[in-house]
Amino acid sequence: MLRLSNILNIQLKKALERAFPNAANAARVSGSTLDPVLVPASKPEFGDFQVNGALNLAKALKQSPRDIALAIVAQLHEDEEFLNLCKSPEIAGPGFINLTLTTQCLIREINNQMNDHRLGVPLIDLSKTSGGSAPIVIDFSSPNIAKEMHVGHLRSTIIGDSLARVLEFRGHSVLRLNHVGDWGTQFGMLISHLKLVAPEALTTADAIDLGDLVNFYRQAKQRFDEDELFQDESREEVIKLQNGDLQALKAWKLLCDQSRQEFQKIYDRLDIRLNERGESFYNPYLKNVLNDLDDLGLLVTDEGAKCVFLESITGKDGKSLPMIIQKQDGGFNYATTDLAAIRYRLNSYPDGDGAQRLIYVTDAGQSNHFAGVFEIAERAKWIPNGCHIEHVPFGLVQGEDGKKLKTRSGETVRLRDLLDEAIDRAESDLRIRLKKEGRDESQAFIKHVSTTVGIAAVKYADLSQNRITNYQFSFNKMLALQGNTAPYLLYALVRIAGIARKGGNLGINIDTLEFNQPQEWCLIRELLKFDEVIIKVEEELLPNRLCSYLFDLSQVFNRFYDKVPVLKANEPNRSCRLALCRTTANTLKLGMTLLGIPTLERM
Ligand code: ARG
Repeated sequence: MLRLSNILNIQLKKALERAFPNAANAARVSGSTLDPVLVPASKPEFGDFQVNGALNLAKALKQSPRDIALAIVAQLHEDEEFLNLCKSPEIAGPGFINLTLTTQCLIREINNQMNDHRLGVPLIDLSKTSGGSAPIVIDFSSPNIAKEMHVGHLRSTIIGDSLARVLEFRGHSVLRLNHVGDWGTQFGMLISHLKLVAPEALTTADAIDLGDLVNFYRQAKQRFDEDELFQDESREEVIKLQNGDLQALKAWKLLCDQSRQEFQKIYDRLDIRLNERGESFYNPYLKNVLNDLDDLGLLVTDEGAKCVFLESITGKDGKSLPMIIQKQDGGFNYATTDLAAIRYRLNSYPDGDGAQRLIYVTDAGQSNHFAGVFEIAERAKWIPNGCHIEHVPFGLVQGEDGKKLKTRSGETVRLRDLLDEAIDRAESDLRIRLKKEGRDESQAFIKHVSTTVGIAAVKYADLSQNRITNYQFSFNKMLALQGNTAPYLLYALVRIAGIARKGGNLGINIDTLEFNQPQEWCLIRELLKFDEVIIKVEEELLPNRLCSYLFDLSQVFNRFYDKVPVLKANEPNRSCRLALCRTTANTLKLGMTLLGIPTLERM
């Protein structure tokens, strides 16, 4: 309906101008226009759209909102094109105008949507957007080498991927960057420790597996905290690495490869594409960050560390907090790397991505980190005009007890195990259902369906929550066949696509659709919302809006299918209704694809 609301908006503006030419002129002189404030109707009984502008304009026009609404309506009655789209407008309350689309208009719109493989979602016109064809960077997933990827990284991976898919679908060029933690002091301590306990890991590929590596990392950290001598050794090792010592670099590369293979297994299972560009990539640019901040007069030396005092973030005592750019020992920080990364990503010369927008998907716990980094980048004028950077935070993943998600023995949950368990549970649910339905299916079918449902359930459970809130991880809830879950939607899609398939070819020309049942109109109106939902997700970066829409759509469909016969109806109704089934299935499928959720033909 987006196209339609744009047309209506123009017609309403013209009506306002004709009704109040002097005020419209005055507004134009001051660089504005009279705004009709067109919004989707808040309730179905108000029609399709509401025009709320009369209330805001009352003061400027020195008339009652009702009189203004009357004047607008009088003008609309003069507009042939408007009357082609809407039935006679109705004034409600103090001066709202309710607009209801004509049936011909709804039919035209749904017909357009049926004939469009993008289902009415426009490709963005890059020549008309401020960023043009410059890429959008989405920094997501970003786990750390030598550590297990945890549920926080899972959230970032799932949310980041769905945002990337929506932006790509709209026609943006998207750079999916995996900012893995592959640099810094942790490597010093890991390498020093491995030299002692497992030297083969530093010279031979695959000598140890990631589980061992994670354990060694834990031990190293513990030693580091307890043993001063070991601290010195570790620092020396980092300096060696940073200075390009070949042996240290080789060891580092092996450790990275080891982790990378494990990460890739998870990405493959989740069908995630990412370009790895870890922290180490920005190493050559760190010195410049320091020097340039110094030249700009932003650096302060505080207890031997070089830092920038932040204006936007203060401690409990109300004093501004420092962000450390270079530590006392000469090492650089996580924040320094992020500053170098901002410059690299936004600049295009001499090297860089030339991006227009940077999106960081991490847990809300890093909000202060990003606020600080963004503030410094802004003060240093490293954000070119027209470029935007934003943090897309999300809440914690909790267990069903509301506490941090842990295994029974109290350890952090490994992603691999978590996905396995989702799939195992999906399989046992499926076997129970098959038995109940008396179905005999092949092993391959069972494997395929349970893998798809398990992965879909984990992804959808995460995406369907408003990302800002903490999210309670529950296998039972996410795998339920009822409610706003992946299994429910997958099942709805299978069923609806099945009806459409059974119906075969349409017996009418698609350009001659006709409808007469209220449930048909409800379904048409719901289908027509799809474009707006996608644009909203693009604007607000909230995939849960799309999830709610798909769930609503499937429920509206159920009400339609409950009340209105499809396969048994007579022509032309049968074909018209089949066309609606088909469009509903296509919308569900495209919606799920944009969420990164795999779908099934049968389940
Ligand atoms: N590696 C970090 C972590 O595990 C996330 C990195 C996010 N991206 C960034 N540019 N800082 O918490």
